[in-house]
Amino acid sequence: MMASTSFSPDKPFVYQHSGMHPELQKLLESNFNMVQPGQVEEYRDKIAAIFCFVTPPVREELIASFPNLKVVGNSAVGYEHVDVKACFARGVRVGYTPNVLNAATADMGWALLLATARLLVDGDKIARDPNTKEIDLNRFGFQVSGTTVGIIGMGRIGLEFAKRAMGFNVKLLYHNRHPCTKEIEESVNATFVSKLEDVLRQSDFVVLVAPSTPETYHMMSGPQFKAMKKTGIFVNIARGKLVNQDSLVAALRDGTIAGAGLDVTDPEPLPRDHPLLTLHNVTITPHTGSATLHTRTGMVQMTIGNIWAALRGQDMLNEVNNIVL
Ligand code: GLV
Repeated sequence: MMASTSFSPDKPFVYQHSGMHPELQKLLESNFNMVQPGQVEEYRDKIAAIFCFVTPPVREELIASFPNLKVVGNSAVGYEHVDVKACFARGVRVGYTPNVLNAATADMGWALLLATARLLVDGDKIARDPNTKEIDLNRFGFQVSGTTVGIIGMGRIGLEFAKRAMGFNVKLLYHNRHPCTKEIEESVNATFVSKLEDVLRQSDFVVLVAPSTPETYHMMSGPQFKAMKKTGIFVNIARGKLVNQDSLVAALRDGTIAGAGLDVTDPEPLPRDHPLLTLHNVTITPHTGSATLHTRTGMVQMTIGNIWAALRGQDMLNEVNNIVL
C-alpha cells in the first residue's frame, strides 16, 4: 500500500485499509487524500469516507472511530464484511459495486469448472515435472460438453455464467428463491427447479453463485453433497460461508463427489495445514473472481463515484439501503 506523501486541503480524506494495485491507487489518490492505517491519528477528524475491499472487515469499532464519517465505499458487490447496521445507526451511507464484475466473475466460474473437470492444475504439474518421461494416455478428466450444469443463485452473476453455457451445449438448470422471468429463462435456455436437492441430483456440475446471508449460511452441507452425483463437481464463486467446509472435505475424501473448484473459502486464506489444501481433486484460487485490471478499475471507479455522491448529498449509483438489505 503506497502512502500519499502530500495531502491536498481541497480533497476529501478517505481511510483505506485494503492494499490496491498501483494503477488503482493512483485513481483513488487523484480524487481523495487516501489515509493509510499508520496515518490515522493525524487525520481522524477529517476522515469522511472509508474505502474498502472484501478484506479486512469494516467493523463497528472502526466505523465508530471516525467522528465525521459519511460513507463507506465498498469496492465489491458482497458487503457482508461491512457492519451495515452500525453504519446506518450512525447515518453513514454504504456504497457497493454490483454488475461491473459480473462478466469477470462468470469467466472465473467457467475457468474453475473446466480446470477441475479437465485436471488442469495436475496436468500442468505433470507436464513440467522433470521426471515425466512419457505421456499417460489414460489419465482422464470429466466431460463438460453435453452434460447438465446446475446454477444455484440465478442473479446477475449467475445469469452471466448461464450465457456462457451455450457453447458447451449443456442442459442448464437453476435454483433460486424465485424463478426468473420466462424471457430471461428463454434467453439462456435454463429451467427453474424449485427444490435445491433436485438440481443437485440431476447436475454433473453445480455452481454456487448466491449471496452470503444468514439464510444461505452452510446451505451446502453433508446432505446436499450426498444428493450430488458421485461424478459431480462443485464450484463455488460465491462465498466460503455458504459451504460447510468439513462436509465438503469429507465428501471429496470419501468419493461422495468427484471434485471441487473454489474461488472462495472460509477463512481466506485457509490455514496452511487445512485438509482442503491436501486434496488432489480440488482446484483453489485466492478469491480472484473479479481480479482483472479492467474489472477492478470499473469497481474502483464506481466506488469513487459512490463516495463523491454521498459526500455531495446525492444519490449513489449503487447504495446498500434497507431495500437491498
Ligand atoms: C467479490 O467477491 C465481491 O464481492 O465483489
